Amino acid sequence: TAGQRTAQQPAAKDATRNATPNAAGGVCGTLDTLLVEERVFRPLPRVMAEATVNPQDAAHARRRAEQDWLGFWEEAADELQWFRKWETVLDDAEPPFYRWFAGARCNIVHNALDRHIETVNKNRLALIWEGEPGDTRKLTYFELYREVNRFANVLRGMGVRKGDMVLIYMPSLPETAIAMLATVKIGAIHSVVFAGFSSGGLADRIVDARPRIIVTVDGFYRNGRVIALKPLVDDAISHCRRAAQDRGEASADAGIEQVVVVHRAHLDVAMKDGRDHWWHDVMLHQPSEALTEVMDATDPLFVLYTSGTTGKPKGIVHSHGGYMVGVHRTLNWVFDLKPTDIFWCTADPGWITGHSYAIYGPLMAGTTTLLYEGHPLYPEAGRLWSMVERWGVTILYTVPTLIRMLMRFGTQYPARHDLTTLRLLGTVGEPISPEAWVWFHKNIGRGQCPLLDTWWQTETGMIMIAPLPVSLLKPGSVTRPMPGIEADVVDAKGNSLPPRTGGYLVIKRPWPAMMNTVFNDRQAYESMYWSQFPGWYFPGDVARKDDDGYIWIQGRADDVIMIAGHRVGTAELEAALASHPAVAECGVIGVPDDIRGEVAKAFVVLHDDVPPIGGFVQAEDLESELMEHVRRELGPVAVLRGVEFRTQLPKNRSGKIMRRILRAEELGEDTGDTSTLEEEPFYLR
Ligand code: PRX
Repeated sequence: TAGQRTAQQPAAKDATRNATPNAAGGVCGTLDTLLVEERVFRPLPRVMAEATVNPQDAAHARRRAEQDWLGFWEEAADELQWFRKWETVLDDAEPPFYRWFAGARCNIVHNALDRHIETVNKNRLALIWEGEPGDTRKLTYFELYREVNRFANVLRGMGVRKGDMVLIYMPSLPETAIAMLATVKIGAIHSVVFAGFSSGGLADRIVDARPRIIVTVDGFYRNGRVIALKPLVDDAISHCRRAAQDRGEASADAGIEQVVVVHRAHLDVAMKDGRDHWWHDVMLHQPSEALTEVMDATDPLFVLYTSGTTGKPKGIVHSHGGYMVGVHRTLNWVFDLKPTDIFWCTADPGWITGHSYAIYGPLMAGTTTLLYEGHPLYPEAGRLWSMVERWGVTILYTVPTLIRMLMRFGTQYPARHDLTTLRLLGTVGEPISPEAWVWFHKNIGRGQCPLLDTWWQTETGMIMIAPLPVSLLKPGSVTRPMPGIEADVVDAKGNSLPPRTGGYLVIKRPWPAMMNTVFNDRQAYESMYWSQFPGWYFPGDVARKDDDGYIWIQGRADDVIMIAGHRVGTAELEAALASHPAVAECGVIGVPDDIRGEVAKAFVVLHDDVPPIGGFVQAEDLESELMEHVRRELGPVAVLRGVEFRTQLPKNRSGKIMRRILRAEELGEDTGDTSTLEEEPFYLR
């Protein structure tokens, strides 16, 4: 199945013709294609035989979606239960404020939980949880249902009503899922804040989301330490209170009426009388039945603040009907769920991937989802593999940053564990370099599991561009839009670009799980996503298609680098660097240059087995070797001006490399809003 990586000769392409220099790096011009990856992986007979959606079905679905696009999504909606059906599949009277399944009544929790209690799913495992110290909990659908009902009664008892906001500041615990589902069950809106954020990051979100209730935890285990969380809630509330007083507003506790604290790490935390309650106290004697609120399909479900690789976090709003249809359909198609699956999405619930594919999606599908509290390398680099073996994980959905991290430890750790239960692998969040793709496919998937690279965003709510298990795969490509999704690559004027020319990725039609708006800022929603290409959604990414119509993401439009009149995406330069055996991780940025306008600079983390710089390897030698390597891989255009060696790169909480920070540091500028930055190095040993 393996072909050859080749460097495309610049003479053979004519992309410079299209390149329009733009010092601001904004929406303008097309991109050059430097990296051409020619390896392909065809589905094995076993995968074909097992697949629910075979290639003929997929082709049929694509035709169907083209001919009757709304009918296609209506069929997807019919796979779920509704209290009342829609008047119209899509109300597009006021674009871009699209209203999916307008007139319908539903509640996603009815589909994720309530309806399973009437079926054989009742006693199936809904959730397996493993704490970092090794403690475990398992909940069947019936048990989870009852816990959720109890907490729904707690919230109702605290006066939480339909439309109220509940902020959940918790790591990955069963109670996190319970709190989310209970909030939604009673028609309230949740905003989950990742437990790795500081009190400042939390305070910003409190100010914007204005919750009445916060659900949190005394502390949790991370990398062998106990991280206290409740004190950060107190700090954040005091901070908000002081800020309100400065503005001359009286607010006792920044509008926070109650704080519920899960007892996890046996910490002796301060509890404010009348405001703070232990979870186990308020849950005591609660009835295990609770009514599920009947919601309009377009009612808000949750607000999630984006990981923000570029600026201040925005509250992305999703609603019940469209979100549940989009997530349900994509999970079933991309991951082809079977009743016997143990599905492990390693994302934290505080991230969209955790919302859609660790909690709501798997529960709607009636499958078993695995949650893990702790650090992926604790107590050693085999933790993930021992968990796959222990629980018999069949589908593993993770992020490139984790794959790169695990690659650094070589194959000795996966080799010690039985990974034969795995049948599908997935990745999301960043471009995955072909080298990391092939490593994961070969060493974790035994060369037998399709590796599904899924492109989507917090804003899209659901997977948008991704293969199915039966698709032909190309390492580094997210393949084709899902049936029902119309995506294209266009130039700045919106003209479709031919294959091999990079440009702006656009989504040309609405899709069910799309965001509804930016919380408190309708105008930002219109201007940030819908103003660049009127009528189309602009995700902010650059990409190209190949001759088969496969899409290759080239990075964020903001990160495009102009080298010697060529516009190139960071993903290609980084993929080329990552294919050098010494490189574990890298980030490439453009820096201004008096003569050339802009030059590319790389920040590189070396593999553990490369002797330390200043030891056996001369930094200059390795630097010129890497620069030469990139030129060999990508051709003479790809000139790197300098490689800086680091022990770690700045990343946001979901593990994405923050090129904005690298650039600001390089230029000695203010690093701007860093509230989403990873506070402790993700990579710890
Ligand atoms: O740049 C794309 C990148 O991540 C961005 C969305 O980030 P976030 O809202 O945090 O959601 C991530 C999880 C859904 C996109 O605009 N991205 C996401 N998936 C991929 C990707 N880049 C390349 N390949 C992917 N598979």
